[in-house]
Amino acid sequence: MLAYLNGKYIPRSTATISVEDRGFVFGDGVYEVWRAVNGRLFEIDRHLARLAFGLSELRIDMPDPLTRESTEQIADRLLRESALTDGEATFYVEITRGAAPRAHQFPPAGTPPTVYATVNRLVPPEALRARGASAITIPDIRWLRCDIKTIQLLPNVWAKQAAIETGAIDALMIRDGVVTEGSHANVIGVLDGTIRTHPTNHLILPGITRAIILDMARGFGIPVSEEPIAERDIGRLDELFLAGTTTDVMPIVRVNDQPVAGGVPGPITLRLLNAFRAHLDASCAAAHASP
Ligand code: PDD
Repeated sequence: MLAYLNGKYIPRSTATISVEDRGFVFGDGVYEVWRAVNGRLFEIDRHLARLAFGLSELRIDMPDPLTRESTEQIADRLLRESALTDGEATFYVEITRGAAPRAHQFPPAGTPPTVYATVNRLVPPEALRARGASAITIPDIRWLRCDIKTIQLLPNVWAKQAAIETGAIDALMIRDGVVTEGSHANVIGVLDGTIRTHPTNHLILPGITRAIILDMARGFGIPVSEEPIAERDIGRLDELFLAGTTTDVMPIVRVNDQPVAGGVPGPITLRLLNAFRAHLDASCAAAHASP
């Protein structure tokens, strides 16, 4: 696998950063993950906009801003030279405040950020998707800026690990009695025929998959309410699923060992899952047609 580090393309196994990198020392950075199908990135601009928002909130100045062209160039080369232009892959970009002697305040102006990018094969779990997965619930102990995609992910790591240890795929995080999101995906449910999901505020990441799915649902004439799902309502949901770049739509059919929606993926979930898959393939194919 090839990596991009501060302007250079090198084998990932030889890529190194300073032990004083603020990403390593403080988790002082942001990241993005794009989906790639047959060598083409899905939703380049929306992910770039979220990355730019995170950089601006953290006040990290990029000497050369990542443009659509430069991002595509980096992704193209990484995907090509890592033999990932066929089928599914992810493109990961991380930017930290750079390397400087350890001190909590920002380093001197002009300290160059660290820019790292790499690609990985993605194997979508189709069999699990078809039968539906289980989830657990866990308290959401994260900070109050979950809208920024920072690399500080320890509560998310704990949540996912707790899920895996009980044989579940993910943990639904609960804050003040409502479901916020999963460890690396948004959570969307159907209650009394209406799609319900947490509104985009400082308590969740504004997921790009979430936004696309909600638009599709509205297009299908399904009512959508950006009102969070109460923890006490989980047991009476008609349907439940996760939505994210590496997750697509993943039906959740059990929560804390209790069946949701009869224990099988529901019709709205399946309709959105299929529509999303078709849209993902079509938009990456269209990017091929007009390079
Ligand atoms: N995660 N919520 C959280 C906490 C996330 O980390 C993610 C994405 C999402 C879904 O956002 P999107 O649809 O834009 O991918 C929601 C990435 C994929 C990850 O950490 O691997």
